[in-house]
Amino acid sequence: MKTRICGTGSALPKREVTNDDLSRIMDTSDEWIKSRTGIGSRHLAVEETLVSLAANAAKGALEEANVLPKDLDMILAATLSADNVLPTLSCELQRELGASNAVAFDINAACSGFLFALQTADVYIRSGQYKKILVVGGEILSKLMDWNDRSTCVLFGDGAGAAVVMPDEASGILSSVQGSDGARGGVLSCPGRKNNNPYVTNDAGLSFVSMDGQEVYKFAVRTVPKAIMEAVEKAGLAMEEIDLFILHQANIRIIESVAKRLKVPMEKFPTNLERCGNISAGSVPVLLDDANRKGMLKRGDRVVLAGFGAGLTWGASVLTW
Ligand code: COA
Repeated sequence: MKTRICGTGSALPKREVTNDDLSRIMDTSDEWIKSRTGIGSRHLAVEETLVSLAANAAKGALEEANVLPKDLDMILAATLSADNVLPTLSCELQRELGASNAVAFDINAACSGFLFALQTADVYIRSGQYKKILVVGGEILSKLMDWNDRSTCVLFGDGAGAAVVMPDEASGILSSVQGSDGARGGVLSCPGRKNNNPYVTNDAGLSFVSMDGQEVYKFAVRTVPKAIMEAVEKAGLAMEEIDLFILHQANIRIIESVAKRLKVPMEKFPTNLERCGNISAGSVPVLLDDANRKGMLKRGDRVVLAGFGAGLTWGASVLTW
């Protein structure tokens, strides 16, 4: 028994902000951003909530999979930027969709979130406990950015992607690898709320994402190829047998470096970072939906999904479409 992705969906906020738009409000340029990252624009949530984006993405995935919300057994939402601390995004999504029979909880593994949620769904499906699972990855990261820190805020965007997974005899997830290295977590962080009770003094200022870009870059180019090689080997396949690589969209130079280390041509690495930036947990499912809607995925194709990011965390899965 395998876990097959039977439908995908995605949603981006209406407001698209180009590098030139940013250069009008901060000291940056299209040339600087594009040459170092490949990012040309990103979508930023002005009126949208994360649950509204996640619900739109979910509706697309449910429709393609031909599954009604009330038939879902489980909703897993990967995010680090839910609209509220409580209730969770997954429970709000359950309410929004009317998926009254699902159990719902969130997973936070930052930019690896969708991979970790998909791999969790895979374990539930293979155990036989659940049959119809909605896996969502989405972020409104723009609210966690320091818009005075040009080295970080220009890289990220908002959006959500979704997949419906079900058991299948023939196609589906063949192998997965996951990893975490909390000891190096300080290179990409965002502090949460501080202790707040009558026994502490708390100056409760707002906290934002901060990043040591070069350290994160080095981590990504060393770890991601290794994780993909391990997952492909575990699946009993050769790298040349993989048709498509859907990687977390952090930086085009990271993707080029991974492709080079794997000795795979860049044509097998679709991207959407030029117009989406880095959507953290939303990145992989939004790109997967792009590829699916463009007809780039045919039944039987072999696909690698890979995510990496804060934690540090990383994950890769190999599947047949
Ligand atoms: N516009 C213009 N100049 C900028 C800028 C911006 N948006 N951001 C930073 N700069 C400046 C810096 O102030 C620095 O100036 P200085 O040399 O006068 O001090 C200069 O550009 C070079 O900065 P540097 O940090 O050396 O650039 P870099 O080549 O390392 O590129 C990143 C920075 C962030 C693009 C790169 O490190 C990166 O992509 N890292 C990976 C990040 C990532 O993917 N994170 C998410 C993982 S999930």
